[in-house]
Amino acid sequence: MKKILFLFVLGVFFFVPSLSVQAAEEFLYICGPCSRNFVPIAEDVIQELALEDNVHIKLVSCLGACTASPVVEFKGEIYGHMTKEKLFALLRSYFTL
Ligand code: FES
Repeated sequence: MKKILFLFVLGVFFFVPSLSVQAAEEFLYICGPCSRNFVPIAEDVIQELALEDNVHIKLVSCLGACTASPVVEFKGEIYGHMTKEKLFALLRSYFTL
């Protein structure tokens, strides 16, 4: 009986953590040529929302909306004239914060 109980506890110890839901990891692409200055703002937003483990900033080449700087791409959508407030709303909405 002790052996069965031991195996049960061992099973719970190893399998329950693997069943936990992992938060999504996403990339926020920022246009390097025209929107590089938006990087520190985006970093602030990500930090204030405590999403450092979930959202990673990546500078990329032209996103095709050059007249709408700052330009970012998130989840396949291009967003122009990005502001700190808009990014807050976007990330809050996506991560349901
Ligand atoms: S150079 Fe930034 S979107 Fe084209």
